[in-house]
Amino acid sequence: MSDDTPPADALTPAAVQRHLRAAVFGHRIFYYPSIGSTNERALELAAAGEPEGGLVVAEEQTEGRGRRDRSWASSPSLGIYASLILRPAIPAPRAPLLTFMAAIATADALNEIPGLKARIKWPNDVTVSGRKIAGVLGEVRGSDPEVREMVVGIGVNVHHLESDFPPELVARATSVRLATGRGWDRAALLARLLEDFEQGYTRALRDGPGTLLRDWQSLSALQPGDPVRVLGPAGPAQGAFSGIDEEGGLRLVVDGGRTLRVPFGEIVETLEP
Ligand code: BTN
Repeated sequence: MSDDTPPADALTPAAVQRHLRAAVFGHRIFYYPSIGSTNERALELAAAGEPEGGLVVAEEQTEGRGRRDRSWASSPSLGIYASLILRPAIPAPRAPLLTFMAAIATADALNEIPGLKARIKWPNDVTVSGRKIAGVLGEVRGSDPEVREMVVGIGVNVHHLESDFPPELVARATSVRLATGRGWDRAALLARLLEDFEQGYTRALRDGPGTLLRDWQSLSALQPGDPVRVLGPAGPAQGAFSGIDEEGGLRLVVDGGRTLRVPFGEIVETLEP
């Protein structure tokens, strides 16, 4: 096989759309064998007027971005690297909920793979047996009080072996192949994810976030009362997980029974009870 031969489960528009049952998401696909970041390209397309549902996918990213200024390992043809353009017209504080929606859709799609049990770790990491298998990065340009355009980027580790991860991530990362002993068709997985995402998104915009929050909690790796250490904008905090609120903030019961709201950040450690 020459280096130019596409992989058997390439994410080409034809391959993804063969499986796709979504009405809008993924009907226009911008496919790149290699790109800096699909999020960056999707933001450019959104700024140029690309309608909702436009999707940028790549076999490889050379500057894949993660949350909190981290990079996202994006080796050729091992994972799904995809960014969706949304035009939700919702108040800016609600925008994080759409990244939660993407995490739910990703976990749901992964949970259709036999032998895989995907969970969500606040805010929107998707994990299997405590190791990260997928991540979501929502990006909005500008500071409008209403989000008119937004990009939600999703990275899923599919065919990775341990040697495909940077050494510092090996102990904390996994992939479909590592978790189940076999790979999975990336185009079919992406199509399933888009369908689930579109259904949840349409429902959340129509009915409000109630179902989304319930779905998130039912997939949460943490249950109310579980002790955690969290890193938020005010620094580290420790307490008992007590769910998320309508803007995606984490509720933490700290010493003395007071409830602390952590608006954004991440869970750095789950503690022994
Ligand atoms: C995280 O840190 O958990 C978020 C990772 C998001 C990675 C995806 S891969 C596709 C899209 N393009 C990027 O540059 N990042 C996101």
